Amino acid sequence: MRISTGAATDSSKRTPKTSIFVIRNFFAPTRIMNKTLQIIFNLYSRFVLFFVRRSLIRAGNEKLYTELLNRLNKNYFLTPSLKWFQKYYYSYKRDESRKLKEAEEVLTALNLNLAGAPVLEIGPANGYFLDVCMKHGAKSAGFIDIDPYFYYYLKVKGYKEGILGNHWKAVHKLKGQKYSLIYSKGAMIVDDLLMRRERSFAMMSEWLSALEKATVNGGVIVICPHWRDVPASAKRQYTGNILENDFVKFILEKGYSPLKFIEGHNIEPNYPVTFWKRV
Ligand SMILES: C[S@@+](CC[C@H](N)C(=O)[O-])C[C@H]1O[C@@H](n2cnc3c(N)ncnc32)[C@H](O)[C@@H]1O
Repeated sequence: MRISTGAATDSSKRTPKTSIFVIRNFFAPTRIMNKTLQIIFNLYSRFVLFFVRRSLIRAGNEKLYTELLNRLNKNYFLTPSLKWFQKYYYSYKRDESRKLKEAEEVLTALNLNLAGAPVLEIGPANGYFLDVCMKHGAKSAGFIDIDPYFYYYLKVKGYKEGILGNHWKAVHKLKGQKYSLIYSKGAMIVDDLLMRRERSFAMMSEWLSALEKATVNGGVIVICPHWRDVPASAKRQYTGNILENDFVKFILEKGYSPLKFIEGHNIEPNYPVTFWKRV
């Protein structure tokens, strides 16, 4: 049974001013929290930038830093990508010589002559593969990357033909450009694709068609997917003979073949196999 205390106020007697006061105060904690998060985020960015700047200056790369920063600052919404800076820049920088050697070995395995060839990389990160292609005489190097940091980093590095976006959609915006080599390593996760296989395979069919349209006659497409993001889910998806996996069956049916295993490029368990096709 409810007992009336008689203290309840009649809401109809509230003046509009009171309700505005009530509404404002209702949202006040959210505003305070937003402001606090903004301040924390700002401090965090400054903290990250301090170290980024220090190490770039030490590496004699102040110009790159200033230019990168200018571009990021002009796009306020991009600043969160700074948090990736440490994660990616440092880990890739640490790996630089290994990645350059890996790219050389992939090109040797493909036995391609890149002199004067236009190349496209999907998911280039720091662009070491593109660097090696240019060293081998490629005419131009285009790229698609979803990460604003890598996008601007590559632009600053001198790769002007870039698309910032999700490659699943961006490949349909290639607007008639043709490439002799399209290379993608690590920009798709097999586990994710297998989770929604019908939809994923339909999307990937269109994606592969777009890539083929963008390849010159006799050109080559190379795809090295990332397999395991979460070891537990990977165990479920990827057991037994890799060639019996549904993703592999799908890509083989599309006319791709496994490239020979390349030490340092095909790393178990993340990158067990690379597929390639001559168009
Ligand atoms: C694991 S890294 C591999 C980098 C490089 N290919 C290599 O072999 O070192 C994956 C790269 O793909 C990009 N990427 C991942 N998903 C993507 C997507 N849906 N669209 C475009 N780029 C994507 C990431 O930003 C990153 O640069």
